[in-house]
Amino acid sequence: MASVTDIEELSEDAAKAELARLSELLNKANTAYHGDDDPDISDADYDALKRRNAQIEARFPHLKRADSPSEQVGSAPAEGFSKVTHEVAMLSLSNGFDAEDISDFDARIRRYLALEADAALSYTAEPKIDGLSLSLRYEGGALVQAATRGDGRVGENVTANARTIADIPTSIVGAPDVLEVRGEVYMSHPDFEALNARQAEAGGKVFANPRNAAAGSLRQLDAEITRARPLRFFAYAWGALSEPLAETQMGAIDRLGEMGFQTNPLTRICAGPQELMAHYDEIEAQRATLGYDIDGVVYKVNDLALQDRLGFRSTTPRWAIAHKFPAELAWTRLEAIDIQVGRTGALSPVARLHPVTVGGVVVSNATLHNEDYVSGRDNKGATIRDGKDIRVGDWVQVYRAGDVIPKVADVDLNKRPADAEPYVFPQRCPECGSAAVREPGDAVRRCTGGLICPAQAVEKLKHFVSRAAFDIEGLGAKQVEQFYTDQWIREPADIFTLRARYGSGVQQLKNREGWGEKSATNLFDAIDDRRKITLSRLIFSLGIRHVGEAASNTIAMHYTDWATFDAAMRAAQDSETPAWQDLIDIDGVGTVMATSLVQTLAQPAERASIDRLIAELDVQPVARPKTDGSPVAGKIVVFTGTLEKMTRAEAKARAERLGAKVSGSVSAKTDIVIAGPGAGSKAKKAAELGIETLDEDGWLSLIAGV
Ligand code: IVH
Repeated sequence: MASVTDIEELSEDAAKAELARLSELLNKANTAYHGDDDPDISDADYDALKRRNAQIEARFPHLKRADSPSEQVGSAPAEGFSKVTHEVAMLSLSNGFDAEDISDFDARIRRYLALEADAALSYTAEPKIDGLSLSLRYEGGALVQAATRGDGRVGENVTANARTIADIPTSIVGAPDVLEVRGEVYMSHPDFEALNARQAEAGGKVFANPRNAAAGSLRQLDAEITRARPLRFFAYAWGALSEPLAETQMGAIDRLGEMGFQTNPLTRICAGPQELMAHYDEIEAQRATLGYDIDGVVYKVNDLALQDRLGFRSTTPRWAIAHKFPAELAWTRLEAIDIQVGRTGALSPVARLHPVTVGGVVVSNATLHNEDYVSGRDNKGATIRDGKDIRVGDWVQVYRAGDVIPKVADVDLNKRPADAEPYVFPQRCPECGSAAVREPGDAVRRCTGGLICPAQAVEKLKHFVSRAAFDIEGLGAKQVEQFYTDQWIREPADIFTLRARYGSGVQQLKNREGWGEKSATNLFDAIDDRRKITLSRLIFSLGIRHVGEAASNTIAMHYTDWATFDAAMRAAQDSETPAWQDLIDIDGVGTVMATSLVQTLAQPAERASIDRLIAELDVQPVARPKTDGSPVAGKIVVFTGTLEKMTRAEAKARAERLGAKVSGSVSAKTDIVIAGPGAGSKAKKAAELGIETLDEDGWLSLIAGV
């Protein structure tokens, strides 16, 4: 059915006619597929038509139609990109905003490494490019794979697209056998302007900023479209390596430069926070004339052996920080204050704003944090904004820092309407009418309705299906809302009985708006895929207050399987028990989190709901880190007294990497106590119980070489 004329041979007129024909065919196929649920062509034929359309557009960009099928997102049945699991996770950076944050960063590192205050510690400083990160894998010097960051663990395979970018060498000389180069794909200002001008002329999509243009151009299913887009790449990091690149960050960047990668010419070595700040000022002064967008300066510990010792928190390295440029600001009118109810019942005031552009993005909603923030106080009762409250009708200052939710910073009293009334915070939940109360010490007023509150139930479900939790393809926030409203899903367990209840069901599901036979079947399959779930994702997905992603991971590592965890939580209801002690001894679990966990799991309605969920799942026990040959794998160790070669934090992190469990108290279950000078009652107890006790050197030689 596709025309046989070679694209290279198409005349302009023929191309125009062909684009019109393809647009009609694809539109018809879309309607058949989505509207009538009666596909008239196969997926493969559909893909072929789309590909041909994209190729013609790439050759004749000016002929691209206003209703071009290639701009219709989400309607293609194409599978999209295949998934790539990163061998080394692609992490993000923690942020700093001022000189104090940067000196804290330096101080934190010195503390962690137990460095003297006057010991030398140098950093690299380089621009933070505002694009999207990409990981390039070379084997034997040949580019074999390119993947986007995705959620950090799994990204999208964009190899064909990456090969079209001139800054990305497809083969390199003198590289380690395995080399993953990481960096940023971006678009320069002149290229962005020219692309948008071309797009506008051809009636195509005009991009809001260079970052969106770069992302949209890289994530094209047709690599020929990417080829026609002027993308660039700066290398600044690496993932898996068969051998080290250098001993320092700067040395490694220089080597990447020698291999043919573009590295940023503003990268410098700085001796400490003062020099970092000076280089920051220098880069900021050049920001407008660089020719590409940057949103801050990244600092990294230069010595790679120290980077290795510092390691990572759950999603960010300890050895780097992004020093962000100041947030962009704008003034606008506050049209209303709405209250949103979150999954833990928190009542959050949201500003509805007259739309205003802040840093290239139109903002019409912003957070007002909580009751106190609106009234001009912080949560300790101290005044903020000189005590000015915020009222509907006010002129307010809005800002965005990075990708975070916009916030309201200030209010202009000179422009306050005479009839503006102080905002009265509701004392009842606007969603279910239950009392909304503020516990002593809590900054937030909360709905007491629990699971009877529809807002809490829906937010819990949204959290349950979110990316770091069950991450069910095709079941996002929007679909969850729809299913909840229609009473098909009231609690997480209902997701897993959906096929059984509505299963012949495809029929019923497909009659709903937005669902077709294929998407319905895909959804049921995606749900079934997720019955197998890791313990840490499961704990996180329960949405228990104070129990975030990192804590869920730590807790899962400790208990290793659901039955053990569940039994321990039941036992820990009594705070006199060893189970309670064991829980609060976990590094990273405090009494507030422990109480929240234990109480939530003991609450009868929650309990019943969780039990129904568990019955549907196959919870995977924790896959332990690779600890082959580790003499301390699975052992419970306790550090006490002063450590001299490293800090307690580093010692703990290292022990955990080797598969040990680090506990805060000595019991009969303890395997090893590491006692430094000044060790007191714990060392004594260890001796009484006959537990192996080592000094710091003894510990270090035990774990040496693994
Ligand atoms: S280093 C393990 N250096 O910023 C840390 N990141 O906010 C690896 N980015 O995901 C990142 N310029 O996409 C690094 N010079 C630079 C960067 C940079 C931009 C991006 C990167 C990362 C994000 C984190």
